[in-house]
Amino acid sequence: MNSPLPDTAPDFDQPVAVLKHCHGRIRKQLATLEKLLAHLPQHGADEQARQAAQAVLKYFDKAAQLHHDDEEQDLIPMLHAVAQGEDAATLQALAPVILQDHKDMDAMWQDLHEQLSLIAGGGATQLSGSTVERFTQRYLNHMEREENTMAPMAVRLFSPEQMRQLGLAMRRRRGIEAGDNGATATACEPATASIGDRVADLRKDYGQARLDESEVADDPVAQFTRWFEEALKAEVNEPNAMSVATVGEDGRPTSRIVLVKQFDGRGFTWYTNYDSQKGKQLASKPFAALLFFWSELERQVRIEGTVERTTAEESDRYFNSRPLKSRLSAIASRQSAPIANRATLEHNYEDVARQYGESPSRPSNWGGFRLVPERIEFWQGRRSRFHDRIVYTRQEDGSWTRQRLQP
Ligand SMILES: Cc1cc2nc3c(=O)[nH]c(=O)nc-3n(C[C@H](O)[C@H](O)[C@H](O)COP(=O)(O)O)c2cc1C
Repeated sequence: MNSPLPDTAPDFDQPVAVLKHCHGRIRKQLATLEKLLAHLPQHGADEQARQAAQAVLKYFDKAAQLHHDDEEQDLIPMLHAVAQGEDAATLQALAPVILQDHKDMDAMWQDLHEQLSLIAGGGATQLSGSTVERFTQRYLNHMEREENTMAPMAVRLFSPEQMRQLGLAMRRRRGIEAGDNGATATACEPATASIGDRVADLRKDYGQARLDESEVADDPVAQFTRWFEEALKAEVNEPNAMSVATVGEDGRPTSRIVLVKQFDGRGFTWYTNYDSQKGKQLASKPFAALLFFWSELERQVRIEGTVERTTAEESDRYFNSRPLKSRLSAIASRQSAPIANRATLEHNYEDVARQYGESPSRPSNWGGFRLVPERIEFWQGRRSRFHDRIVYTRQEDGSWTRQRLQP
């Protein structure tokens, strides 16, 4: 670090000073990480170690990411716009290095994140010394590089108006209102605003995988099967949970989660009460949109089409495969209808259990819906919101075409 850090956080009117101030914070967290590495072999994941792990996690998960975004989305593009001659040549060489640093540091952070999460939870004491060393060294070199080149260049080249724009962008990124000077102290800290305001700062960059035209299956259900198997293998939470959006007679959409229970070339099937809100909506408007979100794999699948009921035999087969209590619940609940209280609901269940005994048969208002797809889109999260999207559209003859969409 060439210039000493100011003790207090500078204002967003001096955005370059804010960026340097953030470097100071990053150095502090790196020092904590090094101390933690030395502490663990002797003391294990004690209270002090857990707190240190939590602090480092909090910092690099959130605040450091904001700092990278400041540079990638504002500082570097703004410098590109004004730099000329030697400055432009320096920038041309430097910007890819900075971006590559971010990418590599993010990847190393993913490793450290996992280890630190376990330490923070008191469950493990493993922290890879070599990763900490590489991460720290890379960050220190990276910050020095920025402080020696980009920061002075910005100070030299930016007009007061450009400085204002940069400060404004950084302020917006953190959800800090103009004139809220108290908040500038938190510019390089993990957010401390209310959770409702903080959601805008929840940023996760995706980069686990890519989706390439040359690798996807010709048939979208085959592609879905591939991704579903990968979701199972990755043990994602509730892989078969999907949102089902339907529309009412008034044209207003509504959605809820259900579990897909079967899928193949014919479509995607779930089971429910035909007299429920969704059941009634589908009876009058037999179209729906399904959505799977497998966050652990940074994947989303959107499926749209027409909806039909499964045959009575299919519904019987699935109903009879369910545990007894679930079958009795399906009979006892007039799904989506209001009820006075929980006690009445339980009372209704007891009545049904008494009446139907061990082998209740499927009520006619309960069964499957199958969405017959016309459009299936696969979305794979990529870095800096530059995601991959490939959409399949069914043709009149039943064949599928596919097309890449912009993120
Ligand atoms: C993880 C999860 C799985 C669910 N699975 C089903 C299901 O398979 N079938 C169903 O009818 N409701 C299911 N539900 C409940 C629905 O989300 C919803 O509350 C219910 O179907 C009533 O919706 P409606 O009033 O819009 O018809 C599930 C909810 C969750 C959170």
